[in-house]
Amino acid sequence: VNETIARAVEVLRENDHGDYTIPTKGLYPFQWNWDSCLTALGLAHYDEARAWTEIETLFAHQWPDGMVPHIVFHVLNDSYFPGPEIWRTNRPTATSGITQPAVAGFAVRRLFDRAKDKELAAERARALLPKIDAWHRWFYENRDPRGEGLVAIIHPWESGRDNSIDWDDAFERVPTEGVEAYTRRDTLHADPAHRPTKAQYDRYLWLLQHFRALGWDNAKLHDASPFQIVDPGFNAILIRSAADLADLAETLGEMEIAKANRARAEKGLLAMERLWSDAHGQYLCLDRVIGKLVDSASVGGILPVFSAIPKPRIAAIAATIERIAGKARYIVPSHDLDDPRFDAKRYWRGPVWLVVNYMIADGLAASGHTQVAQRITRSSVDLIAESGFAEYYDPLSGEPLGGGRFTWTAAMVIEFLK
Ligand code: DGY
Repeated sequence: VNETIARAVEVLRENDHGDYTIPTKGLYPFQWNWDSCLTALGLAHYDEARAWTEIETLFAHQWPDGMVPHIVFHVLNDSYFPGPEIWRTNRPTATSGITQPAVAGFAVRRLFDRAKDKELAAERARALLPKIDAWHRWFYENRDPRGEGLVAIIHPWESGRDNSIDWDDAFERVPTEGVEAYTRRDTLHADPAHRPTKAQYDRYLWLLQHFRALGWDNAKLHDASPFQIVDPGFNAILIRSAADLADLAETLGEMEIAKANRARAEKGLLAMERLWSDAHGQYLCLDRVIGKLVDSASVGGILPVFSAIPKPRIAAIAATIERIAGKARYIVPSHDLDDPRFDAKRYWRGPVWLVVNYMIADGLAASGHTQVAQRITRSSVDLIAESGFAEYYDPLSGEPLGGGRFTWTAAMVIEFLK
C-alpha cells in the first residue's frame, strides 16, 4: 500500500507546475477544472497548503459573470487542440468558454473537514466560499433559465463525459456546416480507437464556433444552443457541492451563502425525480430541446448517489451496480454492458474512470451500502495494481487506456488507500 501511494505521489509531483497540476503530459498540458478540484484531495495528503493553492489558481480565472472555465491555458503549448487561438474568449489569461462539473464545493469542504491545520483551512476556505457561491448562482441563472431546479450542459465537454452515448441522439441535431478546417492533436498522444470520432469532433467544434460567434455571452448561449442536456450526474455533483458549501458556510458563519446553497440543493433534489427510470433502475438524461428522457443507461445516471437522493433510489442503483458487476470484471463501467452501443475501450462509452468510482463509492458508503462501495474500491485498487495510473480502463480486461501517468487517477488512488 505504501509503495503504491508513493508511486501515486510521484505522478502528482511530475505533473505539478507550482500552483496548478496538469492532467497528463502531452494530451492535456494545461489546467482542467474538475481535474484540479479532485486532484487537490490527493495533494492534501502530503501538502495541505499546496492543495488549497490548486483550487485558488483555478478560481483566479473565474469569469466576471461567475463561470469557472473548463480549461485555463496558463502557458503556450501546441500539443493540445483546440487551443486559445480557437476559443478566443478574450480573458486576461486565456481560458476556454465553457464550464465543467462543479465539484469544487465538495472538494473544499472535504479539504476543510480533514485539515490538520484548521486555521489555515478556515482562512483559505473563507476566501473561496463567495467565489464558489457565485459559480453556483451562475449555473442556475444561465443554465436553468426557466427555474426548473436542474441545469443543462450546452456542450459535451462540459459534462466531462465527452463522447457518452447519452449525447448521440442530440448530436444528430448539431450541424457540421461551416466548421473550420482543423487538425486534432489528441490522437497523437492516445490511440484513436480509444478517443471520440471525427464526426463527434466536428460537432464539438461547431458548437464552439457557434458560441464564439455569440461573443461567449452566457445570457444568450443556453437558448441558442441546439444541444441542451440535463445530465443527472452533472446535476448531482452540483447539488452535492451546494449542500457541502452550505454546511461549510454555516461552520464559518456565512449565513447568506449557507441559505442560498441549501435552497439550491433542496430544489435540485426534488427536480431530480423527473429523471428517474424504473425500467433502468437509474436516472437518465433529459434532452431539454425536445423535452424527453434519453434512453441511454450511462454512469451519469448512477452518479446521483453522490447527492442526497431518496434512500429507495440509492438502493435501486446499488442493485443496478451489482447487476452490472455480474458482467464486468471491473466496475463501474461508464455505460451499461447490455446496451449494444457499449464500447469497452472508447473513452466514455464503456471504460471505467476512477474519479467516477470515487464519487459513487463515497455516496454509497455514506448511505450504508458499504459492500457495494467496497467492491467499487477494490476494483479501482486492482486496476491500479494491474495497469498503472491510466486515464481510464477497459472494464472487461482491465487494459489501461487513453493517457498514462494520469494525475486525477493518482489522486484517487491515494484517496482509496489512505
Ligand atoms: C478533450 O479535449 O478531450 C477534453 O476532454 C476537452 O476538455
